[in-house]
Amino acid sequence: MKKSSSSLTVTLGDRSYPIHIGRNNTTDLIETLNRIRESKRSCAVVTDSTVELVQSGFLNDVFHDIPRVAIPAGESSKRLAQLEMVLDFMAEHRLNRQSMIFAVGGGVVGDLAGFAAACYMRGIDFIQVPTTLLAMVDSSVGGKTGVNLASGKNLVGAFLQPQAVFVDTTRLDTLEKRELAAGMAEIIKAGLLADRSLFEQLEQSPVTSSKDPGLVGIIWKACAIKAEIVAADERESAASGGRALLNLGHTFGHAIENVTGYNGILHGEGVSIGTVMAADLSAMMGLLSAEAPQRIASVFAAHGLPTRLPSPIPASKLLEAMSRDKKNREGMLRFVLLSGIGQAITHDQVPVDQVMKALANGGAS
Ligand code: GLY
Repeated sequence: MKKSSSSLTVTLGDRSYPIHIGRNNTTDLIETLNRIRESKRSCAVVTDSTVELVQSGFLNDVFHDIPRVAIPAGESSKRLAQLEMVLDFMAEHRLNRQSMIFAVGGGVVGDLAGFAAACYMRGIDFIQVPTTLLAMVDSSVGGKTGVNLASGKNLVGAFLQPQAVFVDTTRLDTLEKRELAAGMAEIIKAGLLADRSLFEQLEQSPVTSSKDPGLVGIIWKACAIKAEIVAADERESAASGGRALLNLGHTFGHAIENVTGYNGILHGEGVSIGTVMAADLSAMMGLLSAEAPQRIASVFAAHGLPTRLPSPIPASKLLEAMSRDKKNREGMLRFVLLSGIGQAITHDQVPVDQVMKALANGGAS
């Protein structure tokens, strides 16, 4: 991973790409777009109904007359029917193998548009322009694209690395506080699994506004952590550790999202509750000090995030949802556990009674 004044690089050989990070840095995006258009490549924008409404000035100023399609905002759009609609749009606008797709939106748009790019004519290029904090620090980086099936999240997809990622924190000024906090959950998670100083920075100075002068720097740190992990284990195939570590809190978190029907709880909120449960489990397994889970919960709470289930859910239902997690290996539940603040490991041998206890401590019934 190389660092320059305004971008860092995800190093993947001839598929390496820059993540441009800043505030009011739209000119970086415009310069790239102009270069693409000068080379006579056709382009299209995929966005969603909310971004089209609240970022219309940005969309019109930057992308002008480039064909644009908006999916309905929300996780329920991340499905095959919407993928087909986007692919039809691409075909109707005669996009070809040289075309470029711009995914302008949050994680749903990035995952769906990226998957459309991966499928269309067996794969065309795309660029991520994330408009939520969660997408800036997680889903827009690393090339995981896909959609959900009724039986589970992200069950259909492809790895396709973007050509570039453009992060401009001014896009976050219209974001609801709750959505900003959900993105902070992934940044706190990144600190917990790989960068103690990032965690301690957030512990001392919680970031609750898109205009916080420290925000660009912490996005940089979170993206740098992700870039390094992705460069080392792009396809999450390491026997232990590797890219799976990015799923700290996600085994519990995905189960909470799944059992609550993907509404009522944001992904980042599930990650917050799930990471506290994972910390609790780590302490029970003797990997983490007994005080650490409370310390970790306090940092999530200081960012306006829930640290326990808002209302009881049967632990058995959560356990059943966890048994369907893609990370599981050979029928064993696989957890990411903390072996310290800033250090994580994967663990395949966690006793079920300890998992049930962590669920109960987090408010499951
Ligand atoms: N969000 C986890 C990953 O990109 O691997």
